[in-house]
Amino acid sequence: MNAFSPENGTPAVSATELPFTPEVAAATAGIWSKVERVLPAEEWHLHAPYIERINKLKKQRNAVILAHNYQTPEIFHGVADIVGDSLALAKRAAESDADVIVMAGVHFMAETAKLLNPSKIVLMPDMEAGCSLAESITPADIRLLRETYPDAPVVTYVNTSAAVKAESDICCTSGNAVEVVESLGAERVLCLPDEYLAKWVATQTKVKILTWKGHCEVHERFTPEEIRRFRRAYDDLIVIAHPECPPEVIAEADFAGSTAKMIDYVRDAKPPRVLMITECSMSDNIAAASPTTEFVRPCIMCPHMKKITLPKILHALETLEPRVEVDPEIAVKARRAVERMIAVGRK
Ligand code: 13P
Ligand code: SF4
Repeated sequence: MNAFSPENGTPAVSATELPFTPEVAAATAGIWSKVERVLPAEEWHLHAPYIERINKLKKQRNAVILAHNYQTPEIFHGVADIVGDSLALAKRAAESDADVIVMAGVHFMAETAKLLNPSKIVLMPDMEAGCSLAESITPADIRLLRETYPDAPVVTYVNTSAAVKAESDICCTSGNAVEVVESLGAERVLCLPDEYLAKWVATQTKVKILTWKGHCEVHERFTPEEIRRFRRAYDDLIVIAHPECPPEVIAEADFAGSTAKMIDYVRDAKPPRVLMITECSMSDNIAAASPTTEFVRPCIMCPHMKKITLPKILHALETLEPRVEVDPEIAVKARRAVERMIAVGRK
């Protein structure tokens, strides 16, 4: 298990400081039954004491833990109250009546939660958990693009900073990007910053899509050759890909969709063997609910998501730090873009 990183100023906590006692085993037995197919017992003995302590403290704090589908199984099944794709996390954050929100995801997700819950404490267990897409574009880039394409509304992916969202007309996620683009009634739309998501949207709509050169450092690493190699090895293989993948990778897949849509696909179609072209914790997280499906697992991890660990979540709940804050002027504008996106889904 990862300890706190010394560079973010948080003291290192050794996993051995929390013992795996019979009480811990009893309190976490139900969770163990969900993860035993994907976690070795030795590893579980390190996680379980943290899970037990976090779940107790969470109640005392009236806190809710939101976890993205890419979180590790011990977080996803062990301590999260709400799990889902970026769209679900944004919506559920808006509905929460907890006093404290802990984001087991990356920084832009915590900012989105804060935008939708300005009066609540939003904790980000590791402030260094960023995103290559969010880092690919700045507010100044958006202003320049607006000057160049004054007729094109700006749709920004939620994988952006609050400052970038504030310069946008509306946000989108991979789960609603086509719907959002079509809701604007424009002939052409700037769909930023993910080049590959934008290209995938362009295949699903008649609206002309203009884009940017941002990429997800996880999804851009998959190749069509790799998929063909797996298909040669397993003739019953179903391949499902995330739209952040390059177009030539999506062209090799049987289905493309957001992480939630990928999960729904496996749950509903129950393929005997599936290859998920996305961050590798996804397969682990849904394996328990899909016992008849075998997951072929090439593993590419998101290094940002993996900065979040159980000891850091516990530390955040104990200290109520580090907190995510958004400049109030930026927040007003960014919130409008996120709320417009959520309203599209309600229509
Ligand atoms: P979704 O969960 O919205 O599909 O996004 C994937 C992703 O890469 C989030 O960082
Ligand atoms: Fe960003 Fe890609 Fe990691 Fe998602 S998986 S947080 S898009 S770098």
